[in-house]
Amino acid sequence: MQNNFSKIQFFRGKKLLGVGTIEDELSIIEIAKIAGVEIPSNCTSGTCGTCLVRLVQGKVEYPEELPPGLDEDIVEEGGILACCQIISESSIIDISPPI
Ligand code: FES
Repeated sequence: MQNNFSKIQFFRGKKLLGVGTIEDELSIIEIAKIAGVEIPSNCTSGTCGTCLVRLVQGKVEYPEELPPGLDEDIVEEGGILACCQIISESSIIDISPPI
Protein backbone atom coordinates (compact mmCIF):
# COMPACT_ATOMS: atom_id res chain seq x y z
CA MET A 1 0.00 0.00 0.00
CA GLN A 2 1.39 3.35 -0.95
CA ASN A 3 1.11 6.56 0.95
CA ASN A 4 0.30 9.93 -0.50
CA PHE A 5 3.86 11.10 -0.20
CA SER A 6 5.60 8.48 -2.34
CA LYS A 7 7.57 10.20 -5.05
CA ILE A 8 9.21 9.26 -8.30
CA GLN A 9 12.38 11.09 -9.25
CA PHE A 10 12.89 11.14 -13.01
CA PHE A 11 16.44 11.31 -14.31
CA ARG A 12 18.10 11.17 -17.69
CA GLY A 13 21.52 9.83 -16.84
CA LYS A 14 22.71 12.01 -13.95
CA LYS A 15 20.39 14.91 -14.71
CA LEU A 16 17.27 15.24 -12.54
CA LEU A 17 14.36 16.14 -14.81
CA GLY A 18 11.52 16.29 -12.33
CA VAL A 19 9.81 14.76 -9.31
CA GLY A 20 6.27 13.38 -9.37
CA THR A 21 3.89 12.13 -6.70
CA ILE A 22 2.56 8.59 -6.98
CA GLU A 23 -1.21 8.37 -7.18
CA ASP A 24 -3.27 5.19 -7.47
CA GLU A 25 -5.01 5.97 -10.72
CA LEU A 26 -2.03 7.41 -12.58
CA SER A 27 0.42 5.56 -14.82
CA ILE A 28 4.13 6.32 -14.56
CA ILE A 29 3.81 8.25 -17.84
CA GLU A 30 1.05 10.40 -16.37
CA ILE A 31 3.00 11.00 -13.15
CA ALA A 32 6.00 12.03 -15.28
CA LYS A 33 3.89 14.37 -17.39
CA ILE A 34 2.57 16.18 -14.31
CA ALA A 35 6.21 16.56 -13.20
CA GLY A 36 7.02 18.10 -16.59
CA VAL A 37 8.85 15.03 -17.90
CA GLU A 38 7.91 13.60 -21.29
CA ILE A 39 8.14 9.80 -21.68
CA PRO A 40 7.36 8.69 -25.24
CA SER A 41 4.51 6.22 -25.63
CA ASN A 42 2.59 4.52 -28.37
CA CYS A 43 0.38 1.53 -27.65
CA THR A 44 -0.11 2.21 -23.88
CA SER A 45 -0.83 -1.50 -23.45
CA GLY A 46 2.57 -3.11 -22.88
CA THR A 47 3.11 -4.26 -26.46
CA CYS A 48 5.42 -1.88 -28.31
CA GLY A 49 8.11 -1.08 -25.72
CA THR A 50 8.18 2.62 -26.71
CA CYS A 51 7.74 3.69 -23.09
CA LEU A 52 10.62 1.55 -21.81
CA VAL A 53 12.53 3.24 -18.99
CA ARG A 54 14.90 1.97 -16.31
CA LEU A 55 14.08 1.55 -12.65
CA VAL A 56 17.18 2.67 -10.75
CA GLN A 57 15.75 2.39 -7.26
CA GLY A 58 12.38 1.25 -5.94
CA LYS A 59 9.91 -1.51 -6.65
CA VAL A 60 7.57 -2.15 -9.56
CA GLU A 61 5.06 -4.95 -9.96
CA TYR A 62 5.61 -7.28 -12.90
CA PRO A 63 2.76 -9.38 -14.29
CA GLU A 64 3.27 -13.14 -14.06
CA GLU A 65 3.56 -13.33 -17.81
CA LEU A 66 5.76 -10.56 -19.24
CA PRO A 67 4.02 -8.35 -21.81
CA PRO A 68 5.43 -8.33 -25.36
CA GLY A 69 7.28 -5.06 -24.66
CA LEU A 70 9.49 -6.74 -22.05
CA ASP A 71 11.77 -9.76 -21.92
CA GLU A 72 13.91 -11.35 -19.21
CA ASP A 73 17.08 -9.50 -20.29
CA ILE A 74 15.35 -6.13 -20.19
CA VAL A 75 13.87 -6.90 -16.78
CA GLU A 76 17.32 -7.84 -15.46
CA GLU A 77 18.58 -4.43 -16.55
CA GLY A 78 15.75 -2.78 -14.59
CA GLY A 79 13.54 -2.19 -17.61
CA ILE A 80 9.95 -1.21 -16.92
CA LEU A 81 7.09 -0.13 -19.14
CA ALA A 82 5.98 3.28 -17.98
CA CYS A 83 2.56 2.98 -19.62
CA CYS A 84 1.25 0.06 -17.67
CA GLN A 85 3.34 -1.06 -14.71
CA ILE A 86 2.32 -0.18 -11.19
CA ILE A 87 4.77 1.58 -8.95
CA SER A 88 3.95 1.77 -5.28
CA GLU A 89 6.84 3.27 -3.38
CA SER A 90 9.29 6.12 -3.73
CA SER A 91 11.48 5.35 -6.70
CA ILE A 92 14.13 6.64 -9.03
CA ILE A 93 13.62 6.18 -12.77
CA ASP A 94 16.04 6.87 -15.61
CA ILE A 95 13.93 7.67 -18.64
CA SER A 96 16.66 6.37 -20.95
CA PRO A 97 15.85 2.80 -21.97
CA PRO A 98 18.18 0.22 -20.35
CA ILE A 99 19.34 -1.48 -23.55
S1 FES B 1 3.55 2.53 -24.89
FE1 FES B 1 3.72 0.58 -25.83
S2 FES B 1 4.52 -0.66 -24.24
FE2 FES B 1 4.14 1.24 -23.27
